[in-house]
Amino acid sequence: MCGIVGYIGSRNAESILINGLTKLEYRGYDSAGIAVYNDGNIQLKKAVGRLSQLEELLEQSPLSGSLAIGHTRWATHGKPSDSNSHPHMDEKGEFVVVHNGIIENFQEIKNELIEKGAEFASETDTEVIAYLLADMYDGDLVSTVQKAVARMEGAYALGIIYKHEPDKMIAVRLASPLIVGIGEKENFIASDIPALIEHTRDIYILNDGEMAVITSDNIQLTTTTGKPIQRDSFHVEWDVETAEKDGFEHFMLKEIYEQPKAYRDTLLNRIDHDVNKIDLSNEISLSQEQIRSIDKIHIVACGTAYHAGLVGKVALENLARIPVEVDVASEYRYRNPIHTPNTLVVVISQSGETADTLAAMKESQKNGVKVLAITNVKGSSVARDADEVLLTLAGPEIAVASTKAYTSQLIAIYLLGLYFAQIRETKNNQEITQYIQAIKELPAQAEKLLEFAPIIKEFSERYAHYEDLFFIGRSMDYAVSLEGSLKLKEISYIHSEAYPAGELKHGTLALITDGIPVIALATQEDIYDKMVSNIKEVKAREAYVLGITLDGNTDLFHSVDEVITIPRTLALLTPALAVIPLQLLAYYAALARGNDVDKPRNLAKSVTVE
Ligand code: M6R
Repeated sequence: MCGIVGYIGSRNAESILINGLTKLEYRGYDSAGIAVYNDGNIQLKKAVGRLSQLEELLEQSPLSGSLAIGHTRWATHGKPSDSNSHPHMDEKGEFVVVHNGIIENFQEIKNELIEKGAEFASETDTEVIAYLLADMYDGDLVSTVQKAVARMEGAYALGIIYKHEPDKMIAVRLASPLIVGIGEKENFIASDIPALIEHTRDIYILNDGEMAVITSDNIQLTTTTGKPIQRDSFHVEWDVETAEKDGFEHFMLKEIYEQPKAYRDTLLNRIDHDVNKIDLSNEISLSQEQIRSIDKIHIVACGTAYHAGLVGKVALENLARIPVEVDVASEYRYRNPIHTPNTLVVVISQSGETADTLAAMKESQKNGVKVLAITNVKGSSVARDADEVLLTLAGPEIAVASTKAYTSQLIAIYLLGLYFAQIRETKNNQEITQYIQAIKELPAQAEKLLEFAPIIKEFSERYAHYEDLFFIGRSMDYAVSLEGSLKLKEISYIHSEAYPAGELKHGTLALITDGIPVIALATQEDIYDKMVSNIKEVKAREAYVLGITLDGNTDLFHSVDEVITIPRTLALLTPALAVIPLQLLAYYAALARGNDVDKPRNLAKSVTVE
């Protein structure tokens, strides 16, 4: 949802900005632009399309200067075009703004400014901010920004520079992520850490309603009403290589292969091997009494994280015997859910910045409900505002299509379910030990499964020319099917639907005709026979079926056209393995269709707008 970056110091800013934007392109790639101050003037270069278009433009006519802001756009207001690209300026070219978010009352402000004679050059809400700053200017940039943001409603991370005060850059945040990088006689702003990590590992994370006044040798943090803020800086521990492709053709493939490591890291220090118990007591402050009293759990998330939540429902209900509801965050926040005093809301978000998930969390907290967040980003908005945090330790996920985040969310859910089960005594010691043993085997099993990537690539190439495809499964296989279908849609653009296999004959079977590809998951032993019957139903309608089942289920070979087998584990844990072939299928199908795998059309990595 747009990436912003800014620099103030003594080096030439252009390459710093372009490098930073490259790391943020996952947030949006409809257009890009930079504004550089030099010798009393601010110059702008913008280009619609990928960042490479802007780079070409800058190669022909470079910009030099040591104060600059830049932007990579995911279009909200106004189509991708040069004029709608950021940065935006006021009419005199004095105030320059980059923005991530949506100004909800921009039309009202725009109309007022038009009445005063303003003529706008773009359709964006961001341009209105630049014009508003010019209209409200009171002789001091900082107080003008404070007054202007007081008029703005919505969500924004802003980078602002002003031609007549070139010793400073302003950063403001409300409900869109923004960090300030601390350098040596130079400072930075960015939407996310990878954009800054080659320059600094020390950052300040801005909270909602806060701003930073940044010069080359000072960073002053205040609220947007001017109250000073004292804050410790945050030290980033992971290294540059973790955020690079490391020899893989795409981030997505690299991240698929990183899953065994993500499992190991997410398990690390959470299993007490001496007593075979899960120990989350250092991270989760809920008392044993509180955990015993939980009478329902609401899992709330979006997209892939929501799909992890669907597996989570089955896992938590079975392990901890607590009733679980799962909701898409954009629905939950408006549905007035019924909370009891002992409801626990579990939000799941890789980025920890998804606007709907954040809002759902805040709505729940307003009702006095405790929120436990499962997130991959320490220091993210969700991590900071939740009552309890369980981190997934998957490392930065860059590809828009989420893979290792999903599977490490599953691991975190299993850990949580087992931890609750121990305290609530819903599983005995022997059962807990079995689960722990099986979870510990998952990384090696995932590694084994990844060795079959070349075979899955061949399957994918056969599927790549279809325009419609179905996934079917029961219970957790259905939840995994939904994730497989989303992966396929978002990067290969093949239309696909996931159905509970038992539901097919209530309508969807009408769509199954000669040669229609169906991917059927049959990894749940207790309902295996039922699933095989469903597969036979689609085979009888001439579907072309790829079955995914457990090692040793050789009988399935007779009922389907092709089979992929996955290592055996406990039923509740199979999603952590079954999803891997589906991720690879989607990846190779997208590749075969010549798509830009890491940057699928119309999408962005973090959805920080509603
Ligand atoms: O950062 P989050 O986990 O909150 O993101 C939620 C979804 O936007 C995300 O999972 C999205 O569905 C992925 N692109 C799917 O691959």
